Amino acid sequence: MYEHLKQQPADKILALIQMYGEDPRDQKIDLGVGVYKNAEGVTPVMRAVKAAEQRIWETQDSKAYTGLAGDPAYSDAMIGLILGTVVPRGNIAAVATPGGTGACRQAFELIRMANPSARVFVSNPTWPNHLSILNYLGIETVLYRYFDSESRGVDFDGMMEDLKAAQAGDVVLLHGCCHNPTGANLNLVQWQEVINLINERGLIAMIDIAYQGFGDGLEEDTQGVRLVASSVKECLIAASCSKNFGVYRERTGLLMAITADAGQTAVLQGNLAFLNRQNYSFPPDHGARVVTTILTDDALRADWMNELEEIRLSMLGLRQQLADELQRLSGSDRFGFIAEHRGMFSRLGAAPELVEKLRADHGIYMVGDSRLNIAGLNAKTIPILANAIVEVGI
Ligand code: LMR
Repeated sequence: MYEHLKQQPADKILALIQMYGEDPRDQKIDLGVGVYKNAEGVTPVMRAVKAAEQRIWETQDSKAYTGLAGDPAYSDAMIGLILGTVVPRGNIAAVATPGGTGACRQAFELIRMANPSARVFVSNPTWPNHLSILNYLGIETVLYRYFDSESRGVDFDGMMEDLKAAQAGDVVLLHGCCHNPTGANLNLVQWQEVINLINERGLIAMIDIAYQGFGDGLEEDTQGVRLVASSVKECLIAASCSKNFGVYRERTGLLMAITADAGQTAVLQGNLAFLNRQNYSFPPDHGARVVTTILTDDALRADWMNELEEIRLSMLGLRQQLADELQRLSGSDRFGFIAEHRGMFSRLGAAPELVEKLRADHGIYMVGDSRLNIAGLNAKTIPILANAIVEVGI
């Protein structure tokens, strides 16, 4: 049967990791995959994660299965982190998932199960794996305008115009904060307008939040999500702990299904657990246990929040330095958007040929749509990147 298999298209983000690894140049710079790196180029294990792991190692006396939904204490802790108390717990079904990707996958499967004709409206551009999974599941996708290639901000008028094509039951996928790949985000007034449209047209909101704490702050980054969750009838939230807890390889995510009708929660919970069972039985536990340990212990939580804030501020500093250096070298303000964007990424808005030139001539790796990982920079590489950007004529 294997002869019937075709080569699959390479994931454009993951393909870059390989190309970068194979590049023999010493001066190469990796601004590809969304992984935080400190000034030494290391993706560290966060202090609170180490401490929680030690505590778990010392006290855990069984590796027996948890529940199909994972440990309920993990769901409770994550719901508190993301939603605070804006939605009563009785209106939320939740399951642990293998990372944020697992949460997205389960959400899409739930959508397909509940309404096979639902279309999913996704921002143009969005994280490529959104489109890849939706296509794989045979779910129709519709792109809505999002990025204004002139201002490098949100094309909000275009977005609203395109979302008006959605019909009752269609799903609108939004990024909770730190839009990937652009770094351009909705303000609260815009979130409210999107919510109004969702409610007027009977649409379903889905939010992917993978970078909470990387944008304007741990609480600030949830403002749009909380507004949606507390104002719409039905909403799905896919969350990731990969970046804000730095537990990438532990595969730690959460899917929430929120309903305004608490009478539906038990059925929703059963369906989410069913989907876990069909796909992998029990979700991974280690990362979820680490996160729960941190979030439920005052000292560990405070230490984690401090380290996350250091990371956020260091990325903001890198943004500002890069914007300043580009301003100095180009003599123009046209790169000011880099300091305005939030999260791990900025989209330069450069043509693919120029991105390719950066790689070929300067050993600088970024995703072909000109998304660069700000956290991949440091004081030494900022001037090198800025020079290269000006030299290739971006
Ligand atoms: C990214 O966008 O680079 C990250 O979310 C990593 C991934 O899985 O693509």
